[in-house]
Order: sequence, then C-alpha cells, then structure tokens
Amino acid sequence: MVYEVSHDDAFRWLNAQPENSFHACLTDPPYGINEFTPKEIEKLRKGSGGVWRLPPAIGGNKRAPLPRFTVLSDEQRNHVREFFREFGRALYPTLVPGGHAFVAGTPMLQYLVQDGMASAGFEVRGAIIRAYRGFRGGDRPKLAEKEFADVCVTPRGCYEPWMIFRRPISEKTVAANLRRWGAGGLRRISESQPFFDLIESARTPKEEKRIADHPTLKPQKLLRALAFALLPTGEGNVVEPFAGSGSTLAACEAIGVNSSGVELDQENYSRIAQNVEALSQLYPAWTDELLGNQAAFRDLFDGTGG
Ligand SMILES: C[S@@+](CC[C@H](N)C(=O)[O-])C[C@H]1O[C@@H](n2cnc3c(N)ncnc32)[C@H](O)[C@@H]1O
Repeated sequence: MVYEVSHDDAFRWLNAQPENSFHACLTDPPYGINEFTPKEIEKLRKGSGGVWRLPPAIGGNKRAPLPRFTVLSDEQRNHVREFFREFGRALYPTLVPGGHAFVAGTPMLQYLVQDGMASAGFEVRGAIIRAYRGFRGGDRPKLAEKEFADVCVTPRGCYEPWMIFRRPISEKTVAANLRRWGAGGLRRISESQPFFDLIESARTPKEEKRIADHPTLKPQKLLRALAFALLPTGEGNVVEPFAGSGSTLAACEAIGVNSSGVELDQENYSRIAQNVEALSQLYPAWTDELLGNQAAFRDLFDGTGG
C-alpha cells in the first residue's frame, strides 16, 4: 500500500489539498491549547512541569506523561472550540460527500470539539467509546483528602471518546452516495452485525511503545479496526492531519489502505518512516482475521481487549 507524509502544518496543508481528496479521516489531534507547542514539548522532554502531568516513577517503571485538561480557563475552552471549527473548515472540502471522520478526544472537551466541527458543517454522529483505563490521579479534593475522605472530584476515567462526524451526503440516498463516492456509511463487522460504538481496548502495548516513542501513542489494533470501519466499501484513502508517530499510517498500511499524514514536529516527523515500517508488521494473523470480518473484531467487542 501507499502512504505519504508531509512535514507541515495541518491547516496549511489541508487548505492546499484538492477537493474530495479523501474518503475518511482518522485523527488524534492536539487540543489546540498548548500541549504540543514547542515550549510545552520542551518541558515534557525535560520532565519538568507544564501542562503535562508527570506522575512519579512507580515500582521502577516510569509512567507515560499525560496532558491535564482540568486546568483550562474559559479562554482556553473557547480556543478549543475555535480550533475545531477551523480544523473542520479545512478538512470538510477535502473529504468526499458522506466521508466520515473519527476524532479522538477526551470526555471533558468532547462538547467543544462537536460544537466546533458542527459549525464547520459536519454532522455529529455520536462517538465510539474506547473502553480502557488510563492513568488515575487527582480524584480527591486537593489539600482536604482526609477531611473529605469519601469524596471524589471526578469519576475514574474508563473511556476515551472517538467522536464520529460525517460530511453530509450529496446524493438523495446513502446507497446513491455509496455508488458515487464510496462513502456515506461505515463498514459492518459481518453481514449480521453492524459496527459497534463500544470497543474494549487495552493500553498501548509496550512493544509498540518501544518502537514508537510518542507521548500519546495509540494502539495498532484499535487504529486498524477504526480505519477498517471508516471505509464502507473497503476502498479509498484515509487522512491523518496530526500524524504524531505515524501510528495511523501504520494501521492503514497494515490493512492495505492508502493514507496521507501530516506532522509539524521535526523530531516526530523524522521517525515516521521507521515507525510505520515496524508497527505495520505487528499482529499479521490478527489483521488477517480483521480483514476477514471475523474473530479479530469479536476480540475488540467481547471484552478481551485488542
Ligand atoms: C495527539 S498527537 C498524535 C499521536 C498519534 N495518534 C500517535 O499514536 O502517535 C498530535 C500530534 O499532532 C502534532 N501537531 C500539533 N499541531 C500540529 C499542526 N498544526 N499540524 C500538524 N501536526 C501538528 C503534534 O506534534 C503531535 O505529534
């Protein structure tokens, strides 16, 4: 399969793409706030503070840092909404009518992303819930943990939403749109089962993290299943404007789908080719099952993780 990757700004790059270039978008964006600005990335790489939560080493294993979103001001929240309005506007014309976008998010910011994308013209079509247990922390009232020993400030996060958007179809029916554009629906698990909006997904396996050093690396099995679902006829190409380590491009490569990616950070960009090569070669048997619409999908939906 073919993938291409550009070292560029996603907005500039999308605005330069011809209309109707892609059948789908599978993306894990930054939150338009500041977690991927050079200043914050420098703090992350140094391991000192900033918007990144840097948990202490536990049992000798350093945990992966995560951005904290509870510290956002009103202005930053508006910035998220605007960021996704701009993103939606740039993406919209590049997708064929009926093309879907799956956008990774976080529960607390989901409404802002949906609002921004909707104002750019996308239909909001719910979310796929990736059920997994990320990092737990900060759930007790600060400096009053003993006084309010029975209180948690937020529930323990057990899911990550992948919001579903669709560029409206241009034809009268989904069937006509599928015929014309190869888009408008999602791929079924099997003839008798549609795609589900709940996926059990373990944390990104260590083996994948050893290959691709990125703070928000997503697991291959999840990305492959999502990329597979995004192309209803099994044909077309996928865009990931915030490529990071290249994991989405690797997932597309593994399932035989053409893809295009963009990454702004030079260090991440320079590692993408080697990451795609190594990540795409993992789990060949599982991937064969996925492409055969059978057991691999059941793994993801029956709680055994992926
Ligand atoms: C959440 S990460 C994606 C991680 C990816 N899913 C993975 O598994 O490796 C978002 C990425 O977008 C990049 N980025 C941020 N702003 C960008 C922009 N304007 N254009 C292109 N890439 C950008 C960041 O450098 C970061 O690597």
